[in-house]
Amino acid sequence: MRIAMIGSGYVGLVSGACLADVGHDVVCVDFDEAKIEALQAGVVPIFEPGLDILVVRNAEAGRLSFTTDLSSAVASADVVFIAVGTPSQQGDGHADLSYVHSAAASIAEAAKGFTVVVLKSTVPVGTGDEVERIIRQVNPRAEIAVASNPEFLREGAAINDFKRPDRIVIGVEDDWARTVLAQVYRPLRRDRLQVQFTSRRSAEIIKYASNAFLAMKIAFINEIADFCETTGADVQEVARGIGMDARIGPKFLHAGPGYGGSCFPKDTLAFVRMGQDFGSPLRLVETTLAVNEQRKRNMASRVVAACGGSVRGRRIAILGLTFKPNTDDMRAAPALAIIPALLDGGAIVNAYDPQGMHEASLLLPSIDYAESALAAAEGADCVVVVTEWAEFRSLDLRSLKAAMKSPVMVDLRNVFDPAKLAAYGFAYTGIGCGAAPGAERPQSQTIRLSA
Ligand code: UDX
Repeated sequence: MRIAMIGSGYVGLVSGACLADVGHDVVCVDFDEAKIEALQAGVVPIFEPGLDILVVRNAEAGRLSFTTDLSSAVASADVVFIAVGTPSQQGDGHADLSYVHSAAASIAEAAKGFTVVVLKSTVPVGTGDEVERIIRQVNPRAEIAVASNPEFLREGAAINDFKRPDRIVIGVEDDWARTVLAQVYRPLRRDRLQVQFTSRRSAEIIKYASNAFLAMKIAFINEIADFCETTGADVQEVARGIGMDARIGPKFLHAGPGYGGSCFPKDTLAFVRMGQDFGSPLRLVETTLAVNEQRKRNMASRVVAACGGSVRGRRIAILGLTFKPNTDDMRAAPALAIIPALLDGGAIVNAYDPQGMHEASLLLPSIDYAESALAAAEGADCVVVVTEWAEFRSLDLRSLKAAMKSPVMVDLRNVFDPAKLAAYGFAYTGIGCGAAPGAERPQSQTIRLSA
């Protein structure tokens, strides 16, 4: 299959490289010349584990190339994916579709022969219809079918998610296009992979409803965490208990400082706006959004409490800045709500993150950045774990304590075992555990009953 991928951002690049890796002939297009030149030289402009190897391997094999020339890429393609950005519009939260619409117009002018145009960007319901209308208006003779094929990639695990997905959703109403898209994904076929062919509008909604549901699950467990704190229970035990019900499942039940990232905050907001526009309000999603924003802001008050009621003049070490581990992405990261609140309270902040410090320094220029977790903790009155990077789990707690002025830890990701921290002499606060600080957490056991 000859594939053109319009937009070589995160989604376009991962999808393009993976489609090439399973044997298709892929051209990735972007109007950013510097980006294309870098990619042609084998330099991947984003941090995603394994992506650079995939890009170089497939470029060398001649299956993957990069260009700014949209017309020639589209003219020789059987399938054109639109994977351009759909940022939140300034102020109102609607997805900005200007890149999608201009890609549609350019595709209409360039397409030759029967071409399947596939929307991979996350777009509001009805965008597939609009793209089809634009293409037919610009070029009434174009032989095209428009499909919706949302992506469900997680940053940091995107290649695995693309190549070994739980499901592939294809919204398409044209029989030939359906056959073509089945061909595109045939190499990924394996046991347990579910491929759902559905209508274009249903596919568009599936993407938003999936993200909204996961966001709601996180907001839910975070609220339960607060309730556990008040009532003297442990949210990790509660999450384990409810997650054993197959109808609920154990994933996305980690209580924390609130979700961030490029998808959940943007997509839930766009979904809420869609509900309002169509006169069918999505009240649970609205509440999820509000609760999560509030939560991110509230996290700083936990640090203030751990520091005895004020952070004025206190040195606070922040461990982890990115919205989650294994990415350098700072978009909507809880750290961006917590750190300014601490600075407002008069704290002196020294932060460390394995990958996110460059991005963070552009957004938070007035704090100090350290070379390591231990260096950030030097002379600190309190250490705050904001992102659960694996390297924090193996921190030498004796050295950490020795580096600090006073051994106080606020662990917003429940990385550490409270009993262990107490044994090392830390005053420890986790998330969602109502036991008194330092009290030993009762060991939970799940006993399998055999007949
Ligand atoms: C998400 C979706 O998982 C993906 O399917 C979609 O295509 C894009 O959005 P991503 O933003 O990469 O992917 O991150 P994800 O791993 O889902 O985490 C999102 C946020 O939720 C992070 O801030 C994370 O820390 C938080 N989270 C996740 C929790 O607080 N608790 C959890 O149990 C899970």
